[in-house]
Amino acid sequence: MRQIESKVHRDLKPTRFWAYGSSVPGPMFEARSGQGILVEWANELPSQHFLPIDHSIHGAEADKPEVRTVVHLHGAKAPAESDGYPDNWYVPGKSVIYHYPNQQDAALLWYHDHALGINRLNVFAGLLGLYILRDDFEDSLSLPKGKYEIPLVLYDRLFDLEGQLNYPVSGNPKSPWTPEVFGDAILVNGKLFPYLEVEPRKYRFRVLNGSNARFLHLSLSNGQKVHQIGTDQGLLSAPVELKRAILAPAERADLILDFSAAAGEQIILKNDSFNVLQFRVAKPIGNTATPDAVALPATLRPVPKIPESAAVKTRMLSLVEVTDPVQRPVTMLLNNAHWNMPVTENPVLDSTEIWNLINTTDDSHPIHLHLVRFQILDRRSFDVSAYWATGQLKFFGPPVPPDPSEAGWKDTVRADPAMVTRIIMRFEGYTGRYVWHCHVLEHEDNEMMRPYDVIAAP
Ligand code: C2O
Ligand code: CU
Repeated sequence: MRQIESKVHRDLKPTRFWAYGSSVPGPMFEARSGQGILVEWANELPSQHFLPIDHSIHGAEADKPEVRTVVHLHGAKAPAESDGYPDNWYVPGKSVIYHYPNQQDAALLWYHDHALGINRLNVFAGLLGLYILRDDFEDSLSLPKGKYEIPLVLYDRLFDLEGQLNYPVSGNPKSPWTPEVFGDAILVNGKLFPYLEVEPRKYRFRVLNGSNARFLHLSLSNGQKVHQIGTDQGLLSAPVELKRAILAPAERADLILDFSAAAGEQIILKNDSFNVLQFRVAKPIGNTATPDAVALPATLRPVPKIPESAAVKTRMLSLVEVTDPVQRPVTMLLNNAHWNMPVTENPVLDSTEIWNLINTTDDSHPIHLHLVRFQILDRRSFDVSAYWATGQLKFFGPPVPPDPSEAGWKDTVRADPAMVTRIIMRFEGYTGRYVWHCHVLEHEDNEMMRPYDVIAAP
């Protein structure tokens, strides 16, 4: 991890970033399922932060070093010692060696900072990158490969007139934290308004929403549909056709775009009305058929449903926003508990549980569990005021199944406002202390994160 300068646009001055290596996003790892790797993560950053630390936030008190980092590989089934626990931060001049066993299916993972209380600032500064895990099964499918497979890391940022990162503050110098940060510039692989020259054929785009807080709603300017073939934790059971891909912070989508009917055109990838990326589709050479006459496979990787009857425990977990007398959010909590309170979630290794995420707030929160992959069972709207008054769930209407594009293996799920979102998972891999949290980084830093323990069977 180093401080670098990099140009995000031809017409902007170089921007200061904190990078893994020498670029933001950092270098892309390409690993194979079943082949573990060791990574030494060295902190060679300056000793002063350049973004506004809020010393009133837990873990970021004035007696803590300003610059602290710890890396988490998001979506990895990794031993607790290598998972980047938020308290395991270290300062410039130090490094750690982490072990990623890669004993899991092919998927697009990503690595980013996770230091307690300043994670939102470290990631905003540039500490994020991709980690592609591949396996033989995926290789056996006829999907676009090589130069036809392109990662797209999307995130929003704010820049000042000097081209420098601008992290907004609350106006209260004692507590500069703001509840969510939304940038007015959306970067693609570190660039603003880039273009990509493509051939009139199918491409595979591996998309990550690496934003602190922005939900992405991606579509194409010509109204063309895309196929989603995978989600956070790998391939769906079959491709899903979409007009619009929705990605909460930290979610990934594996998308197939077919440019074969658009030769000679320019198509824009848009987020709502914002132009993110321009595709310049080449004219076909001669009158020959497009080079990838191969159709998209009709089925991908089977995703066997975890039966609800397999669950040995069901947990009721509320998402809560605490406001001040003028209704400004002060903090966000999971199950009304603070980070440093005793652990309450302690699943047994190799057991299956259902977690009910009871969202009492007005916002959608992308909830992420470390270590495990899960399936979304359903979402169901409920009466929030009745819940506060009685502690009982009074539902409005029937449960809604997940969108087809979410009906695969996930590690991050939108818990929508006034809904109970149910997820089911088996706690496989390792015992030890992990975390679960909201992936809106401003929420995560301000208490919307809890430790959990995977314990050995008694
Ligand atoms: Cu992507 Cu705990 O995080
Ligand atoms: Cu949140």
